[in-house]
Amino acid sequence: MERSLSMELVRVTEAAALQSARWMGRGLKNEADDAATTAMRTVFDTIHMDGVVVIGEGEMDEAPMLYIGERLGNGEAPFVDVAVDPLEGTNIVAKGTWGAIAVVAVADRGNLLHAPDMYMDKIAVGPKAVGAIDINRSVTENLQSVAKALGKDVSEVTAIVLDRPRHEEIIKEIREVGARIRLITDGDVAAALNTAFDDTGVDILFGIGGAPEGVIAAVALKGLGGEMQARLMPENEEQLARCKRMGIEDINKVLTIEDMVKGDDCIFAATGVTDGELLKGVRFQGQSAFTQSLVIRAKSGTVRFVEGKHRLDKKPNLVVE
Ligand code: FBP
Repeated sequence: MERSLSMELVRVTEAAALQSARWMGRGLKNEADDAATTAMRTVFDTIHMDGVVVIGEGEMDEAPMLYIGERLGNGEAPFVDVAVDPLEGTNIVAKGTWGAIAVVAVADRGNLLHAPDMYMDKIAVGPKAVGAIDINRSVTENLQSVAKALGKDVSEVTAIVLDRPRHEEIIKEIREVGARIRLITDGDVAAALNTAFDDTGVDILFGIGGAPEGVIAAVALKGLGGEMQARLMPENEEQLARCKRMGIEDINKVLTIEDMVKGDDCIFAATGVTDGELLKGVRFQGQSAFTQSLVIRAKSGTVRFVEGKHRLDKKPNLVVE
């Protein structure tokens, strides 16, 4: 995969962020998501690649664009699988709160797990705690082992968890062991990313979120040298059958990063939509807009933060030929 694809993917997430950020705080999550999706699709059309969406906005009959199976790019090499979440945190943007991002991940064709739209149980840490987690062990054991790996007391470890009734037990156990918690309303891709950056103050992610988001986070953590373990959580017969159709025979299998994204030739890109721990949200100023993005290439391990200043008068349709 060409290294220049990294910057092209930043253009994609920047466009999605720029368009969806206009909807911040307006209470209209679907409109924000549509704006991000349309923008992302527009910029993908300009990229030299032959991409197939394996994680997208839905099946072909449910989503007008960025649907599963859609071809992206101009049809020339590289041949890649594409995972998109044009707006990760639709409610966050609707309310104008913390941590919405626009994200894409690509890997060589056939290398991304085609995660169905269902829940996934996840545990993730950054590079310093690799080897210290085990999804089959208790929350307490994981916190103690991560504390040891980080050279901290367990009371200094911060876990990030989606604030959902289904996580009541996890939250209770984290509190009982004396670790700190950051509860988030949405956005567990950003939460997983945060575990790999000291500045965010987040050490470990626990809990159940979307499976598509899990695979996207796995690409990021592969590039960052972190660790993630996951398990699909089909909730009915139909979801179970869907997993099987997608080649996932053993539902109880613990999925590692390598199970979710094979090989090192993969790239993750994200742009902040609203302010978060890691990325600033979009700022508008007259005819200009400012973005902050992150792009990670697993092959080289390079992590780049990219500041963008966009002249809105020069590219009203997001693309300049
Ligand atoms: P959307 O951006 O599609 O609204 O999803 C946000 C999100 O919070 C994900 O980050 C997370 O994986 C999932 O939703 C959790 O699902 P649920 O809201 O059903 O608990």
